[in-house]
Amino acid sequence: MTALKSGARTRAEAARVIDAVVSDGRSLDWALARSDEKVAPADRPVVHMLCYGVLRFHWLLRWQLAQLLDKPLKPRDSIVETLLAIGFFQLSDTRIPDHAAVSTTVEAARLLRRPRYAGLINAVLRNYVRKNISELEPADEEARLNHPAWLIQRFRTDWPDHWRQIIEANNDRAPMWLRINTRQKSALDYQTQNEIDGDLLAGVNGALKLRRPMRVEEIPAFDKGQVSVQDAAAQLAAPWLLARGGERVLDACAAPGGKTGHLLELLGPNAHLTAIDSDSTRLEGVRQNLDRLGQTATVLAADASKPGEWWDGKSFDRILLDAPCSASGVIRRHPDIKLLRRESDIQTLACRQGEMLAALWPLLEPAGRLLYVTCSVLAEENDAVIRKFLAAHGDAREDRVLHDYNIRDLMHDKNSGFQVLPGTQGLDGFYFACLEKVS
Ligand SMILES: C[S@@+](CC[C@H](N)C(=O)[O-])C[C@H]1O[C@@H](n2cnc3c(N)ncnc32)[C@H](O)[C@@H]1O
Repeated sequence: MTALKSGARTRAEAARVIDAVVSDGRSLDWALARSDEKVAPADRPVVHMLCYGVLRFHWLLRWQLAQLLDKPLKPRDSIVETLLAIGFFQLSDTRIPDHAAVSTTVEAARLLRRPRYAGLINAVLRNYVRKNISELEPADEEARLNHPAWLIQRFRTDWPDHWRQIIEANNDRAPMWLRINTRQKSALDYQTQNEIDGDLLAGVNGALKLRRPMRVEEIPAFDKGQVSVQDAAAQLAAPWLLARGGERVLDACAAPGGKTGHLLELLGPNAHLTAIDSDSTRLEGVRQNLDRLGQTATVLAADASKPGEWWDGKSFDRILLDAPCSASGVIRRHPDIKLLRRESDIQTLACRQGEMLAALWPLLEPAGRLLYVTCSVLAEENDAVIRKFLAAHGDAREDRVLHDYNIRDLMHDKNSGFQVLPGTQGLDGFYFACLEKVS
């Protein structure tokens, strides 16, 4: 196959994936998983790179398009607009030579059965370069900041001093973090013995940031379960529970099992962990993770807000509630969130989060600890949920002691709970509140 043909195939495939997100409201993970089944392994990195990049800069690219098109194309040809956005992204943000970016994108129109647009695509991409469109600074805020207006407003309201940091981090590419099972080996030994080019994070035992991402199959001892891929902010959750072997632990929203595996590593051989998730397909990921790590837990497809359907009546000493949320703290890893979330989702999510907390609280032993976690930076899903819960539950109090002094630098104190903002020392945005049951 010539370079032009294979280049055109990856552009056409990226356009289909992006269109599934933009026009059909599919998640990027869903669309890429289907695409990976069709695309040759060697082509997948290019398709992924184009999809992430174009979705990350969606509003800017669409604004640039408006500078070059007299009027929008017919809705049935929206995929041509997506192709143009792919062309712009290649021209402004990649090292792909301009002539290759143009010719592969033009050729992709033919593969997408839009040959009559080949001339227009060619002309628009050439104008993009000739008129230096990538250098223009849009007055339009959505285009300049690459976020929907409602989300920009939320960040401004909730984080008057930090909203720009959040937006910049969201528009950046996320680093790859490893979690080393320090029961087997210290992170420093793992890094040194495997000559890994990366940085350890003080205060987060086992967290190693790679300077260059690698494919999972290339990660030394990954298949032996010595190491997992997990953002360092997510690695804060399991130790925060202060769980010990022999205690009964519930991981209430477990899939795909990142924190379940970490908890089991910390609990050691005498672990009694129940991992539940309402999504049985995602729960398969937990089982695979545990197999790889050589760990065991009771894994149940169950609804955390309806313990009456699955709970055996024996209290838990520790509960981790890693609640479903807007994921507004991990936008850099999931840029489609900016397109898929609606402002009205936030209130719905906050109600569900409050219901789950209230439903799980009676399952906690007196003096037990429940850690509430989200990967959101929005107050409505975080401190507002916890404040409301504390006001309604006289037997709950917040433990505000940060047991590891070193993580204080990562945290923003909220009235209730603590927030890590995205981009802080390369971390994702996560919220934590630790509740104790007063005996
Ligand atoms: C943030 S993710 C959990 C990530 C996981 N703890 C990890 O570290 O890999 C939230 C999970 O909550 C699950 N979920 C949503 N509603 C639920 C419910 N009512 N009961 C149990 N799990 C639920 C979702 O299926 C999703 O897997």
